[in-house]
Amino acid sequence: MQGRAHYYEHGKANIMAVAIEVLNAIGCKSLVLTNAAGSTLEESPPGSVMLITDHINMTGISPLFGADGNERFVNMVNAYDPKLSNDMREAAKANNITLHEGVYAWFSGPQFETPAEIRAVTILGADAVGMSTVPEVILARHQGMPVCALSVITNYAAGMSETDISHEQTIAYASKAADTVEKLLNSYLKNY
Ligand code: HPA
Repeated sequence: MQGRAHYYEHGKANIMAVAIEVLNAIGCKSLVLTNAAGSTLEESPPGSVMLITDHINMTGISPLFGADGNERFVNMVNAYDPKLSNDMREAAKANNITLHEGVYAWFSGPQFETPAEIRAVTILGADAVGMSTVPEVILARHQGMPVCALSVITNYAAGMSETDISHEQTIAYASKAADTVEKLLNSYLKNY
């Protein structure tokens, strides 16, 4: 798909539910997600790529609010599928791409985080922060689709660098890393 809708756009965490249901219904066997994110790790600078191994939902919001049935109590252990993640590692290795790994923390946005928020989530175990992906992961897992996700690091998280964080910087670094991500995804997809 080209792009996504974010929670901060409409205040609806389940905005991607129908899209993911359709992908599932037409036979997509897994969901590969990409996003732009800020890094809390010095060793993972702007332009680098991170495999998401787990997440922290900082919003307290679920795309499954109001859902019925026992399936709504989704098991989130191994939400980022170990086999798909391994395939992504292999694809990175085969193409000499450095693939960082870590935990992604979801903030609602659209404002960027404060330095205090970044210090807090760093203590909690976040390696990257962003405003997307987590709702789609929950929705996909609700529908039984395995998930693999990548963060393109577009900036150091708030308070970590002298450079001002901006949407323009996000766009600039996202396009700089686009070739790497394209190469990685093309190689990964050859297995499917
Ligand atoms: N915070 C939240 N979302 C983001 C960031 C960030 O630093 N960079 C790109 N998307």
